[in-house]
Amino acid sequence: MGSLLFVASEAYPLIKTGGLADVAGVLPEVLRRAGVDVRLLLPAYAQVLARVKQPRVLAELELAGVPVRLLETRLPQTSLVTWLVDHPSFSVRGGNPYQDPAGAPWPDNADRFMLLSRAAAAISTGRTTLHWQPDVLHCNDWHTGPAIALTHRSATRSRTVFTIHNLAHMGLFDRATFDRLQLPADLWQPAAMEYYGQCSFIKAGLVYADHITTVSPTYAEEICHAPGGMGLEGLLSERRERLVGILNGIDVDTWNPASDPLLKQPYDADSLQDKALNKRALQRELGLRECDDRPLLGFVGRLAEQKGLELLLPVIDTLLDSPAQLVVLGTGEPGYERRLQALAANRPQTMALSLTYNESLAHRIEAAADLFLMPSLFEPCGLNQLYSLRYGTLPVVRRVGGLADTVVDTDADTLRTGSATGFVFEQPTPEALLQAARRAIDLWHDTQLWRQVQLTAMAQDFSWQQSAARYLALYGFATDARGDN
Ligand code: ADP
Ligand code: GLC
Repeated sequence: MGSLLFVASEAYPLIKTGGLADVAGVLPEVLRRAGVDVRLLLPAYAQVLARVKQPRVLAELELAGVPVRLLETRLPQTSLVTWLVDHPSFSVRGGNPYQDPAGAPWPDNADRFMLLSRAAAAISTGRTTLHWQPDVLHCNDWHTGPAIALTHRSATRSRTVFTIHNLAHMGLFDRATFDRLQLPADLWQPAAMEYYGQCSFIKAGLVYADHITTVSPTYAEEICHAPGGMGLEGLLSERRERLVGILNGIDVDTWNPASDPLLKQPYDADSLQDKALNKRALQRELGLRECDDRPLLGFVGRLAEQKGLELLLPVIDTLLDSPAQLVVLGTGEPGYERRLQALAANRPQTMALSLTYNESLAHRIEAAADLFLMPSLFEPCGLNQLYSLRYGTLPVVRRVGGLADTVVDTDADTLRTGSATGFVFEQPTPEALLQAARRAIDLWHDTQLWRQVQLTAMAQDFSWQQSAARYLALYGFATDARGDN
């Protein structure tokens, strides 16, 4: 069919901080099963090395004078060949791939992700001893942007695809860093990597990729205009014909309420009453009052401005008084952590807070909650609302990006046609969120209608099959699917 090098800075289950890892941990494997000769390329972080069994040394590369080893392993529980870029700046360091324990970016991030990019460029232009070169180089987010710029001028390069998972993270560095990285001098210009006096790794991907994708059709539209384009709307609208929004899928095996081993009690559409057992178990586990007479609201995510904390924080007290209970799982900006702690301290029986990164608790919240809150200011795709739909936990979302593309608001019409799956609001204000959450809570008290919407939500198909077919078409690997919007 064709060969593909898929490059990302994280992939579940080896290393994860957010949705990028969920995508990079599934899409390449789905493509492999469709017949593509795929290699996944990741940094060999210490956490990754701790999770893989005896990787073998595949090659030694010298990248702009820096020696690195390329290791080969398999992505756990799959046959996906995974190559790891092994250098001390990845492997001799714990914690988060991007930040030090105090939350500041690692000071050598530009150098580290330049190495990842250079490794991808060397492989995809055939400048290694590997005897393997991909037909397509697919890079993801800013960490991999320079790979596209570096291969662009090579006569032996692969076709290139660059996916934007989040335009807010541009990989910005100063002029001195640009000089230190020994990039071609002409990349320092507004038509290349320069972004308002800094060097932007993401622009290196956006300017030079043969195709740009992002993770939902609505976000593809939003980033071609201010404010969604964050200063890159000019470039993106110029390249509009090369930009396509392909909705993320989800791993329907990992996120399956009928077989999820992390749940107290698995359930499906035919045993939906068992969902309540998960609610009881979570209330007990987190010290909330055990009761069925009020809805349990859930929030899981990075505590960052993007996720709409400024909308949520002011309405928590009012929501709890409605009455309802709330569970929040997240890590992120210290200011948000403190404000959440203050709210939770006053409400021990109705609000539970876990300021941790806890994959298993995330599953238990998806299963236990009645409603899932996602009031994002912007959201390229969003995966949590998709997990929520599958778990019959109705999402309350803002009409932006992938949230707009995946959740159908509940009103008289959509109830009648049986298409309602959640609650959608427009304005980025606490009042608008509160109103939508109130509509949701009102419906929750109508057991029959609530059940109807839950069943519609659970029946939605967000598996990777359709989206993978779109990528195949874009790569030029398939003839029976179209790669346009
Ligand atoms: P983003 O990539 O912007 O963070 P997504 O909704 O695409 O948002 O994906 C977030 C992913 O990270 C989901 O799989 C979610 O469950 C997970 N996640 C975020 N924060 C936490 C946390 N504190 N504990 C466990 N999982 C988390
Ligand atoms: C980003 C976005 C999120 C998206 C994820 C995976 O982190 O913030 O909306 O779902 O990438 O594409």
